[in-house]
Amino acid sequence: MARKKKNIVIENLTIEAVAAEGKSLARQDGQVIFIEKTVPGDVVDVQIRKKRKAYSEGYPLKFHKYSDLRIDPICEHFGVCGGCKWQNLAYDSQLAFKQQQVEDHLTRIGKVELPELSPIIGSAKTERYRNKLEFTFSNKKWLTKEQIDSEEVIERNALGFHVPRLFDKIVDIETCHLMADPANAIKNEIRSFALANDYSFFDIREQHGLLRILMIRYTDAGELMVLVQFFEEEQERIDLLMNHIKDKFPEITSLLYVINQKKNDTIYDQDIITFSGKDHIIEKMGDLQFKIGPKSFYQTNSQQAKILYDKTIAFADFKGDELVYDLYTGTGTIANYCAGQVKKVVGIEYVEEAIQDAFVNAEVNGITNTDFFAGDMKDLLNDAFISEHGQPDVIITDPPRAGMHENVVNMILKVAPKKVVYVSCNPATQARDISLMDEQYSVTKVQPVDMFPHTHHVECVILLELRG
Ligand SMILES: C[S@@+](CC[C@H](N)C(=O)[O-])C[C@H]1O[C@@H](n2cnc3c(N)ncnc32)[C@H](O)[C@@H]1O
Repeated sequence: MARKKKNIVIENLTIEAVAAEGKSLARQDGQVIFIEKTVPGDVVDVQIRKKRKAYSEGYPLKFHKYSDLRIDPICEHFGVCGGCKWQNLAYDSQLAFKQQQVEDHLTRIGKVELPELSPIIGSAKTERYRNKLEFTFSNKKWLTKEQIDSEEVIERNALGFHVPRLFDKIVDIETCHLMADPANAIKNEIRSFALANDYSFFDIREQHGLLRILMIRYTDAGELMVLVQFFEEEQERIDLLMNHIKDKFPEITSLLYVINQKKNDTIYDQDIITFSGKDHIIEKMGDLQFKIGPKSFYQTNSQQAKILYDKTIAFADFKGDELVYDLYTGTGTIANYCAGQVKKVVGIEYVEEAIQDAFVNAEVNGITNTDFFAGDMKDLLNDAFISEHGQPDVIITDPPRAGMHENVVNMILKVAPKKVVYVSCNPATQARDISLMDEQYSVTKVQPVDMFPHTHHVECVILLELRG
């Protein structure tokens, strides 16, 4: 180990395994080191960025050997852009690492008895699988070292994705492989128009500029939503751009904009203006249709979402007369999707607009046996709620990454349905929660599902059955 003042470099370290959050892991003298931008099998010199008692974190300074697991990434922006960090790993290896991650978390954090895990279900599409993308406009384009060193005058406006950890730097994206065409054509046309007509791109530090965020949503049903978020209120310029988009891309079925003058770019509390077409798009799942507004949550990989929900329903193994609670229901997708197989579904979610969409989605599909309630789960799911709406036979729960609040876990234990189907996008918090339920529930089925190829994210469905 070479050591400078507070500057630790570890040489010739062999990367052993993948770890959480897309990092990899190596060990030296029993110490665990988490290292970004590496894959198992790489041999590297590591610059330590953070040193703790139990572990360190670092990044590679020099590669002595590249792992045999590496492949050439297809994206020209790989390595700088924050998305698709695993594009340099063959898809089979990605799946194997995700499976391993689920198993590790359940074993180390969950510490519960496990059945044999079902093999992870990979995504049929590994490119162009997302139905939603958000590109950021910025006057602080990320520049390569060559660009900084060159004498050329370089355009500093950019439309693309954030550089990890740098909140004001944007990688100007030419082609993103995450969404089907015409997503790239729309993005590139808007950027060209904006540059040609001297539109200002947002300055996040100084809080000025006209153009802020571009959101594109594209459904398998063929509907296309484009939402341009502006910061400044320059109506003439806004109309000019919106008309240009409308003329160039007649296939857009919902063309929207919003003028958001808040510090942050969330639009949940903003008025969205329909410039042309409808104020929503429709996605299909099985025999059902779902109405998706600009503020609605919808799983971003539509095809895998269907597989995930089918697994959830298969694990629940409904007989037809069940009362089901769908916790963290979002826009009621799971609730409405399984309504045809049970007596009634009660969905709970804290975003009011999502609950409104859930009702609309029930109505659009002629579903009459679902009911939805808005509120914070830990407060709403209480004894009074259960006595009013009935004792559930099955609880489906699909919490956010943080997992379930302890009060919610305790309430499930108190209600004690025969089955709990736990869908999670974070196996670490899922493992923590099921360990809290271990005395009362045994884990009988585990099914990892990959919704996000080229990222470290993994979804997992677990069936918990009440112990006899
Ligand atoms: C992973 S999403 C699941 C959505 C839905 N099941 C689906 O598949 O479309 C988690 C949902 O939990 C909601 N949520 C997060 N925290 C919550 C809380 N404390 N109480 C109620 N809902 C919450 C979020 O708004 C989000 O819609």
